[in-house]
Amino acid sequence: MLIRKSEGICSSEITPKSLYLNRRKFLARAALAGAAAATAWRMRELGSPVTRVLAGNKINGIQKSPFSTTETITPYQDVTHYNNYYEFSTDKEGPAELAKNFRTRPWKVKIEGAVEKKLELDVDEIIKMAPPEERIYRHRCVEGWSIVVPWIGFSLSELIKKVNPTSKAKFVEFTTLYDLNQMPGERRDVLEWPYVEGLRMDEAMHPLALLCFGMYGEDLPNQDGAPLRMVLPWKYGFKSAKAIVRIRFTEKQPMNTWNISAPQEYGFYANVNPHVDHPRWSQAKERRLGEFFKRPTLMFNGYDQVASLYNGMDLRKNF
Ligand code: MTE
Repeated sequence: MLIRKSEGICSSEITPKSLYLNRRKFLARAALAGAAAATAWRMRELGSPVTRVLAGNKINGIQKSPFSTTETITPYQDVTHYNNYYEFSTDKEGPAELAKNFRTRPWKVKIEGAVEKKLELDVDEIIKMAPPEERIYRHRCVEGWSIVVPWIGFSLSELIKKVNPTSKAKFVEFTTLYDLNQMPGERRDVLEWPYVEGLRMDEAMHPLALLCFGMYGEDLPNQDGAPLRMVLPWKYGFKSAKAIVRIRFTEKQPMNTWNISAPQEYGFYANVNPHVDHPRWSQAKERRLGEFFKRPTLMFNGYDQVASLYNGMDLRKNF
């Protein structure tokens, strides 16, 4: 994502970088004859001992979700080493290393705003609110790359129902951690800190909206948003806030970090919409990490079950 701050950092150099990454992988895997063989190889890699060494604590009692896609899962190595996490770095490869020692316990989450009772919950209390589900979701970044990840969590609605929002609650705002000692990226003026995101209440209550604390059968790695993040598969990745410390119910539409930073480029809704180009590039296609050829991007990232939330809205204006 481009940053138009005084430093003028173009962090991702978006297309060249992802092209580079994927070309490198393509060449490395060229010996594997054809896409089918490559896919089979990647699936074996996922279950390999190497994956286990890299991963965290196993999560027990995971249920399968009917919302899961059957598409090929992106290798763990890619999902954990190609991250957007500006609190640590504007480089894709940076967060894996820089977030290595990030402390995710103890971790409190404030529930505030239009709720019957304001709360401060321990993240482990939240995690136990509902049985963990594995949701294999497509996840599309506004920069044009996508991944398929077996996330673990439960619908955000499970939490919302338990905290009793009042009738004034029309939106939900997510605020992520501000900690200059732990998050070196926050010393830089590249975004307004802390990172904030928001949803309309009906979006937040949609069963697809996932409150996420794990992936690939285990705890969420730090660079992917531990201990608690959102995953909104029908929206561009920037809506899925990582390292959440506050959930606030509001009457007015909250501001969101990327919209503050570049309102003409990043909207509040940020639904995946191949018909609305980013001002500087097309959104019609995407490249899945680990693949060489682009594929067409689908409206709502293929999650048509959310379409009714936007009936009557012009999704070109409300991008
Ligand atoms: N959350 C926080 N706190 N900080 C960030 O920089 N980046 C967003 C989103 N959530 C971001 C964040 C963007 S731009 C994307 S594409 C996704 O996280 C990337 O998630 P991933 O690294 O797990 O793929």
